[in-house]
Amino acid sequence: MAGKLHGKVALVTGASSGIGEATALALAAEGAYVALAARRVERLEAVVKRIEDSGGQAIAIIADVANEKQTQEMVQAAHTKWGHLDILVNNAGLMLLGPIEGADTEDWRRMVNVNLLGLMYATHAVLPIMKGQSGGHIVNISSVAGRTITPGNAVYNTTKWGVGAFSEALRQEVHAHHIRVTIIEPGVVETELVEHITDPKAKEETQQFYQAIHGLQSEDIAAAIVYAVTQPPHVSVNEILIRPTEQDR
Ligand SMILES: NC(=O)c1ccc[n+]([C@@H]2O[C@H](COP(=O)([O-])OP(=O)(O)OC[C@H]3O[C@@H](n4cnc5c(N)ncnc54)[C@H](OP(=O)(O)O)[C@@H]3O)[C@@H](O)[C@H]2O)c1
Repeated sequence: MAGKLHGKVALVTGASSGIGEATALALAAEGAYVALAARRVERLEAVVKRIEDSGGQAIAIIADVANEKQTQEMVQAAHTKWGHLDILVNNAGLMLLGPIEGADTEDWRRMVNVNLLGLMYATHAVLPIMKGQSGGHIVNISSVAGRTITPGNAVYNTTKWGVGAFSEALRQEVHAHHIRVTIIEPGVVETELVEHITDPKAKEETQQFYQAIHGLQSEDIAAAIVYAVTQPPHVSVNEILIRPTEQDR
């Protein structure tokens, strides 16, 4: 398809729902060839079909980003399919909120493994490819929770602050190779993210917080990602913080 990203290859993690799904569709609408990665293959294949039905090119890659080997193979599969890899969107994530005291520490491991280590593994695997091409763009999905601290969000906050720290160090290490790094920091986006919270009280409170305001849609975040990755080569959009107008914190 013609578009500002015609012929570019993008890999989007967590593309089976929410922001990742919308981003895959938006990148494809701008002409990118898109590799969609996640664990739920039927959901991925449905998005691939939508892209193909619109005249685009896409593939589904089953990968658990918490698994370093699977994440390396995910990057290799996307690169092998089209022979280059221009854009990596590290979007896969979990928001398992709840207080520190009495928390199920398995929730902590899952968030650290997916939100932080998964993003790091994918970045590690893609860097030799992007350096070899003398360019690329890595988009890391953080959150308002990567900028402001709230009780009950400790470990989610920690992972998203980690995304910010890792991304800025990465930017400083790779800018000379014409690899751009962008952090996207959404506020409330209406996706299934909240439904996966395991602490019943935290889930109910978060649902109420989300329902009290007119939240963002996944397409709003996808549009910001498309903006960042379609700038001219000398422009590096490093950070985009987007809240719903009605969100106070
Ligand atoms: N919604 C919000 O209000 C909001 C606000 C700020 C930031 N964010 C961030 O936006 C990102 C996307 O979240 P969303 O709101 O779009 O929620 P979502 O609809 O629940 O999407 C999360 C995605 O991550 C994938 N995922 C989860 N664990 C994975 C794993 N181990 N390996 C591979 N993929 C995995 C899921 O796919 P599978 O289950 O199929 O693997 C799914 O595609 C997250 O990083 C989240 O922290 C969201």
